[in-house]
Amino acid sequence: MKLEEIDTLTGTAASEAAVAVDLAGLEEVRIRYLGRNGRINDVMEALKAAPRETKKDFGQAANRFKQQIQAAIEERKAALESSAGPAGSMVDTSLPGAWRGGGKLHPITLLIQRATSIFRSMGFTVAEGPDLEDEFHNFDALNTPANHPSRDPSDTFYLDGGLLLRTHTSPVQIRYMETQQPPVRIIAPGRCYRRDTMDATHSANFHQIEGLYVDRDVSLANLKGDLEYFVRKLMNLEDVRIRMRPHFFPFTEPSVEVDYSCHVCQGKGCRVCKHSGWIEIGGAGMVDPNVFQACGYDPEQVTGYAFGMGVERMAMILFGIPDIRLLYENHVRFLQQF
Ligand code: PHE
Repeated sequence: MKLEEIDTLTGTAASEAAVAVDLAGLEEVRIRYLGRNGRINDVMEALKAAPRETKKDFGQAANRFKQQIQAAIEERKAALESSAGPAGSMVDTSLPGAWRGGGKLHPITLLIQRATSIFRSMGFTVAEGPDLEDEFHNFDALNTPANHPSRDPSDTFYLDGGLLLRTHTSPVQIRYMETQQPPVRIIAPGRCYRRDTMDATHSANFHQIEGLYVDRDVSLANLKGDLEYFVRKLMNLEDVRIRMRPHFFPFTEPSVEVDYSCHVCQGKGCRVCKHSGWIEIGGAGMVDPNVFQACGYDPEQVTGYAFGMGVERMAMILFGIPDIRLLYENHVRFLQQF
């Protein structure tokens, strides 16, 4: 070993000691250089073999080797012991950061927010009602006779004390009209509950967006125009047509089911619309005079339309989700896509 090599080794050992990440690592450095089988043996060997005229230089280099490494170890040890980090860990601030992924909105939330902002732009405000309803608001005031099949305990969740989990968002219409005078222009997004067996398109817990517009001379044409505007904005499409099929709901007369021309094929027929060219968005109709009466409105003075849309249905169509259960299982890989 040459003289310069001893000094180089001294420098290497001292810098290794200075970057040891913990006390165990520091001990390894000490053993590697100053330990019984460490590099110090090479240094002492070189000192012993050195010719007489350079013995003194080698002796001094060997001393520097021992003292400087020892000092570097002491210094690092003090730093590690006093540092606050776990086991004196070192933070390399030059490393690139680790991306953990940002939070995202659930597709149901996303759709409700989008729909709400469109209806707001049309002059609707948002109304709310309780999930836990009474029979009056969920059925009676909505002109639903006592023997109507939807009231059956095999379809509706009843609780002790006569309350029930609302089967639709329509009771919000009643609660709003009970406390507010016309004109009324509200939407009510919210959860609904039915005793349905889970399958690819049914869930016992789902969401609806209810709409209610009451004023003088509101007509079915207003309903058609408003829903057409809504779908156009929701789908971001210029050319959307609406059609209405006759239907029955106890709380509207006439009642309709509303379809819009398929946003994928523009009505020509494709897989998304099951080759019919039309996609259903919900039930609707003109508010039945009996409903107005139950809320204290005069059906001779006002008319109104109401609609109820299924949020899960819309989300599945809009995002191409094949199974409603995907919306509730909360798999991160599914949710990340929205
Ligand atoms: N409440 C109805 C349902 O759940 C939908 C609806 C709302 C129909 C408003 C007409 C008017 O199926």
